[in-house]
This record gives sequence, C-alpha cells and structure tokens, in this order.
Amino acid sequence: MDHMALSALNRNYGIPNQLGFKEGPGGLVVAEIKNPHGEATVALHGGQILAFRPRGHEEVLWLSRASDFETGHPIRGGIPVCWPWFADHPTDNTKPAHGFVRTAVWSVSASEALADQSTRLELSIADSAQTMKLWPHSFRLAIDVTVSDVLRVKLTATNTGAAAFECSGALHSYFSISSPSQITIKGLAGCDYLDKVDRFRRKVQQGDIAIASETDRIYLDTTAVCIIEDHGLRRQIGIAKNGSHTTVVWNPWIDKARAMKDFGDDEYMRMVCVETANAATDTISLAPGSTHILEGVIRPATLVRRDVDQGA
Ligand code: BG6
Repeated sequence: MDHMALSALNRNYGIPNQLGFKEGPGGLVVAEIKNPHGEATVALHGGQILAFRPRGHEEVLWLSRASDFETGHPIRGGIPVCWPWFADHPTDNTKPAHGFVRTAVWSVSASEALADQSTRLELSIADSAQTMKLWPHSFRLAIDVTVSDVLRVKLTATNTGAAAFECSGALHSYFSISSPSQITIKGLAGCDYLDKVDRFRRKVQQGDIAIASETDRIYLDTTAVCIIEDHGLRRQIGIAKNGSHTTVVWNPWIDKARAMKDFGDDEYMRMVCVETANAATDTISLAPGSTHILEGVIRPATLVRRDVDQGA
C-alpha cells in the first residue's frame, strides 16, 4: 500500500469528520464516509460500494466473508459495477463476465459535503491500453455516491471517442436479508422475465417474488420501484431507479453457492441481489460525446407490521 498516495487522497478529497481514505480489506484503498445520517464504505477497486448503514438501521448491503479483496478479482458483495457488458460478453465468452470495470482500480475525481450534511463522492475510470484490448472504445465512466439516510448511486457513461458504441451494465446490488423465507420482493408482479435457470425461457411473474430455490431472472421493460420486505429484520428496502428498463433478481441457492469459491456455502441464506440494470433487450447506444445515466436510489425503512403495530 502506497502511504504517499493515501495521504494525497486524504489531502485532496478528505472531508474532516465526514470522509477519509484508509487501507481496507486486503490492503485495498477504501473511502469511509460517516455523517449524521449514516455511514458507507466505498472501494477504489471497482468503484464499488461495500457497505451502507443509515443511522438506526442494520447494514443494508451484503458482503461475502469469502470474498477476494485483490486487484484483478471481483469483490463479492456490496454494489459491483458491471460495465460495458452485463453477464457474458455478447460474442466472446473468453472475456470477463460482467465487463472489466469491476476488477480495475478507479480514481477519485470529486468529494463534497452537502448543505444537508450528506456526503458525495465521485470515482471515475476511463479507457486505457488495457481496456482497449478487451473493448476498443474510448469512454469515461463515473460513479457518484451520495450518502445520507438514503444511498444514491449514479453511474454516468460517456462516449469520449469518435464512433458510436453499445453497452449494457448494472449496479449489481447485493442486499443483506434475514433469510429467503422471510422476504418478499414487491414491484414486479405481471412483469415478463427471462428465466436464466430455465434456458432463458420468457415467463410472466405471478404475484410478488418469493425466493425458495435458485433464482436468476432478468425482468424486462420495467422501471418499477422494487421493495424487499424483510419480516425477519422488520425492515423494507426500497430500490428506485432511473435510466434502467431491466431489473435482475439473483440468489444462487445451494449448489451454485458451493461452486463459487468466493461465496460461503451457507451465505445464500443471507443475501439477495436486486440489480438496477441495462441488459438483454435494454442495450444502450451512445453516439460520440453522449452520455447515459444509470441511477439507483436505496431507501431502507422500518417495516410496519400492520397486525401488531397498527392494532389491525
Ligand atoms: C447475476 C447473473 O447478475 O450475477 C448471474 O444474473 C450470475 O447469472 C451472477 O451468476 C454473479 O455473477 P458473477 O460473475 O459475479 O459470479
């Protein structure tokens, strides 16, 4: 770990009593944000949010205890940024799944203490000789994270080259849950989805989503707010979005969890991904100089149990 670099980050972007940079897991550099509304940790590796805890709530994001914290490897949990492609590369499966920015080190490009005492941090990454080998386009990608009692994540992709390109991607958000049997995911009833565990067959979501087996679904043509209702934690997490017509819901369940070496065997019982995505039919075309913004807004709240709390 380069202590000079860390000092420079703190000098240039640190905010007294709100934002500091330090050595995190595996020696990776992380920004720690703490303000009167909540706390968050953001790794420069992958531009990845690792933790978010609004005051008075338990941790909202899930991070695997088995994760690698090593440059060049994805971090399992938090909010990995998948870009410029979601899942497998469209034509070449020798290229890394979910693109290459989640395994690269991003730069800090801005920080700000806002008037309402929330904190903003921007990290960015641009094309390099290395990215050109995987994807021959010039780009700038910035992630703007605002931490208050709500977590706002804005991913701005800009085409800085002379030719148009197509991209897909996701804020691959892992949420911490009490247990799959205790949660319901609302917001996608009636929506069409591609079922990745059933040869991508197109189906229609009947009612709310319950997780009771391997689940890997790409919900199509949806801009809906999703709500994870967690009766075990008595918490709900609202996930609102902009610039996205796809939502991916994933839980690997028993066999897939065992097969992934950076995922604890029993950890499928503690997480669910509800991903704000541009995927499948929702591919983004960017003309030279143009920009696409993919935004997720994560809002935890105490779950009011009507029968108990309202005397119904
Ligand atoms: C989800 C995909 O978004 O990410 C799944 O829908 C995939 O198919 C999962 O297994 C995890 O991907 P990875 O590359 O982080 O193991």
